[in-house]
This record gives sequence, structure tokens and C-alpha cells, in this order.
Amino acid sequence: MKKLGVGVLGVGEMGKRHAENLRRLVPQARLVAIADVAGERARQVAAELEIEHWDNSLGALLEHKDINSVLIATPDKFHAGAIIQAAEAGKNILCEKPLATNMADAEAALKAVEKAGVRLQIGFMRRYDPAYAAAMQRVEAGEIGEPVLFKSVGRDKDAPPMSAYQANVNGMVFYNNTIHDFDLARWLMKDEVREVQSYGTVAIRPEVAKYGDVVASVVNLSFSRGAIGNIESYVQAVYAYDVRTEVVGSKGSIFIGSVNQAPATFLTAHGATRTLADHFLTRFEDAYLAEVRDVVDNMLHDRPPRVTGEDGLRSLAIAVAAEKSLHQRSACPVEIQAAATSGKS
Ligand SMILES: NC(=O)c1ccc[n+]([C@@H]2O[C@H](COP(=O)([O-])OP(=O)(O)OC[C@H]3O[C@@H](n4cnc5c(N)ncnc54)[C@H](O)[C@@H]3O)[C@@H](O)[C@H]2O)c1
Repeated sequence: MKKLGVGVLGVGEMGKRHAENLRRLVPQARLVAIADVAGERARQVAAELEIEHWDNSLGALLEHKDINSVLIATPDKFHAGAIIQAAEAGKNILCEKPLATNMADAEAALKAVEKAGVRLQIGFMRRYDPAYAAAMQRVEAGEIGEPVLFKSVGRDKDAPPMSAYQANVNGMVFYNNTIHDFDLARWLMKDEVREVQSYGTVAIRPEVAKYGDVVASVVNLSFSRGAIGNIESYVQAVYAYDVRTEVVGSKGSIFIGSVNQAPATFLTAHGATRTLADHFLTRFEDAYLAEVRDVVDNMLHDRPPRVTGEDGLRSLAIAVAAEKSLHQRSACPVEIQAAATSGKS
């Protein structure tokens, strides 16, 4: 069987899962090498997953001639630079969200991809989650008519440690968390967001403010064709990892997601217990696997990516407007250069 040679850059929590999937559950892929600036981490993950090569830089990873595609799972601020370096080396790319943490870096990355003529997919894996994918099929079949309202909730169970804010390598909540919902909003509503108004709070953890972040936010959305929406993000839900979305249309509504990881409820003398989703790696287990399978298959057969660089740019533009709105305390338009492209996609 023809196999796609893949390298994974950044093997922390997310990159390690991608590497596991590629190594064990995607027969069309050959995971040639992994790399991480923390060389010891790369060595350990390579040993655990029985991967032949490990490196401590992207430059070294790109030296492997049998690597056709690179999966980037470094912290957010390194995505654009890694895309540019991988594209210039002629590699196809799957990059974790967000595309970048500012528009200038995002546009430079897309330019490099276009110039090199390589493929780029952005890691909006919720589109591959069976529940979200089924909802989209029904929206496209017209079952709820014309979408009118979009509502989404994204709550992490455990607050990040202060060291994560201090490290300053990821974007603030709109870029790191809400960006998933910005992408879902565009995708499920089949429309673009034209204006946002956002609010945020650090009320339960004031020290977060000095890192320019918030612990909870709401972003109101206004779409180009007249629909409206609202997204809530919260990083400290405590009880579970809770991701839910609703699309309300002219003929009905679709609820997607549930706080329950498994549909079963256990009833005993002590009351009712359910298994709640506690982490993105469990809630979206199927989606991460379906995503890499699809990307590998498309890259192997030179087909365009399902989630494009332009999708990455447009969701980023909404995050940029949301941050601006938070600071200016007023509604802000979503501003984007017209001719954004993404290589062969
Ligand atoms: N799609 C999703 O649902 C999802 C979920 C979690 C994280 N993510 C994204 O994945 C990325 C990684 O997140 P994570 O939770 O795995 O973080 P993490 O901190 O657990 O892992 C990041 C890894 O990258 C390494 N690293 C840092 N800088 C590097 C560089 N310049 N070159 C190579 N390696 C480098 C670190 O040593 C670490 O091992 C982030 O961009 C995040 O937004 C996406």
C-alpha cells in the first residue's frame, strides 16, 4: 500500500495524540519522525510509540527525505513560522488551530503556502465529530430551514496553571478556545461573521488580567445575511469539559453535544451517576482520528483539504475583532483582506 510519510512537530498533549493516531490507527500513514524543542520529551514519545527518529527542531525534522507532510502541534505563537518553514521545504501541512495569533503572521503563512504550491489544513477537528458532522448534513439538507441563531458554549474543566499564562506562548481565550466556535459559526451557519461585541471577566481570578486574558467571555455575533449569535467560553467549569452548540433556523433547531461522555445513566441507592466528559482528548477522540485519516487520505491522493487556510484566516479575523471589542468596549467589524488564498486548496 502506498503510504504518506509524516512528521509531527511538538509532541505535548495534542501532538502526542496525533502521533499515536498516525502510528497506530492510520494505516495509510508512516510516521517517520517526531520533533520537539524539548528533546527529552521527543525521545520519550518516540520510544513509547516506537517511532524510528526523533529530533529537537523543525529544521532537523525536514531533513528526512521521506517526509511528505508535517503536522504542527506546537503552541499557538509558533504556528505561522513553522508553516512558512515547512512550506518552503515543499511539505504539505496539517496545523493545529489557530492559524496564527495575528493577521500579519497569518497572511505571511498563507503567502508562503501559496508560493510553494503545497496543501494546508487547519485543525478545526470539531467538523469531524460525528454529532457536529450529522448536524451539518441536516443543515445542508435544509431540515431546519434558514439558520437564524447560533449559540455555542465551550467550557474547559480545569483552569490552566498560572505558568501557562506566564509562558505567553498561546493566544488569549479568543484565539485558543473560542476560535473553535468561530469556525463552527461560519461553517454551520454557512455565512460570514461581519461584526462582534465581546465581554470578558477575570472576577474569580484577577491575576489573569496582567497577561491580557480573561477566565470567561461572551461574544455576540452578527452575520452577513442577518442572522445573529452568541458564544460563551469559560476555562474553569470544574464539573466537566462541556461543549454544546445550537443552530436555530426558520423550520426548527439542532442541539449538538451534551455534558455526558456516555449516554448511560446509572441509578443506585446513592442516586444517579453519569460519566461526564472531562477532557477534549476524550470528548473529541473520534474527531481527532477522523481528521488525521481524512487529511492523510487527501494528501496521499492530492485532493484539496477540507478545512482550508482561508478558514483559518477568517476564524482568526473574528478572534482579532473580538479582542478589539473587549478592549474598546464597543462592537467591532470583522476585517479581512479580500484575496486570502491557501496554496493548492
Ligand atoms: N484541536 C484541538 O482540540 C486542540 C486541543 C488542544 C491543543 N490544541 C492546539 O495544539 C497546540 C499544542 O497544544 P498542547 O496542548 O499540546 O500544548 P503542550 O504545551 O502540551 O505541548 C506543546 C509542545 O510543543 C513543544 N514546543 C514548544 N515550542 C516548540 C517549537 N518552537 N518547536 C517544536 N516544539 C515546540 C513543547 O516542548 C511541548 O512539548 C496548540 O496550538 C493548541 O492550541 C488543539
